[in-house]
Amino acid sequence: MRIIMLGAPGAGKGTQASIISKKMNIPHISTGDIFRYNIKNNTKLGIEAKSYIDKGLLVPDELTINIVKDRLKNDDCKKGFLLDGFPRTINQAEALDKVLSDMNLNLNLVLNIFIKDEAVIKRLSGRRVCPNCNAGYHLIYSPTKLEGICDECKSEVIQRNDDKEETILERLKTYHVQTEPLEKFYEKKGLLKSVDSQGTIEQTKIEVFKVLGVE
Ligand code: AP5
Repeated sequence: MRIIMLGAPGAGKGTQASIISKKMNIPHISTGDIFRYNIKNNTKLGIEAKSYIDKGLLVPDELTINIVKDRLKNDDCKKGFLLDGFPRTINQAEALDKVLSDMNLNLNLVLNIFIKDEAVIKRLSGRRVCPNCNAGYHLIYSPTKLEGICDECKSEVIQRNDDKEETILERLKTYHVQTEPLEKFYEKKGLLKSVDSQGTIEQTKIEVFKVLGVE
């Protein structure tokens, strides 16, 4: 299947994407993770992306579209893929349509993970991530087994730089102005399905699986 995950910052896109990716054995492609990898390795792309990400702004479309275009050409995408955090603007969505049509492919589903703005700060301020293997945790809702240590690879987990309250508020603004219009864009194409993510991770997973038709 070829799936897009939509939703506000902190909605739980990454958490559910990683569950779906394991369940369906399709690659989880997160543009946010690609940027963070480049920031960590101090590449030219990373240095440029950081100047936008730290302010809660979107990285310019030209940079982002080319990254996804290249990534989708990898062999592992032949069996399907899960795009998390892309597209985030109408321009990106139209570019993706073009890339897929050039490859003779189409999208199967756009999964909109819904959360109220009030819940976002609680989720993001408690989020911890593993800088080594990208596993995601939450201090209260999904803690590591050993305090501060990644369950998967035993590295020390960290707080993301853009998970400070003032940056979270900017990211929410950016989301409402630039990304939320994609709901209508995909609704018109008959591809949009929404899942309420205000329950627990497990409850959300059950709803997501229902939409995907898997158990
Ligand atoms: P990105 O990494 O994509 O960030 P985001 O969209 O802001 O989403 P998050 O990763 O913050 O949240 P999420 O929905 O994945 O939530 P998670 O599952 O972690 O992008 C970062 C930045 O890169 C952007 O701001 C932008 O600058 C740039 N960028 C990326 N893509 C771009 C693009 N296409 N164009 C331009 N710029 C781009 O969950 C959050 C927390 O809540 C976790 O701690 C989790 O454990 C917990 N949690 C999850 N679900 C639940 C639940 N149901 N109950 C309780 N806790 C839960």
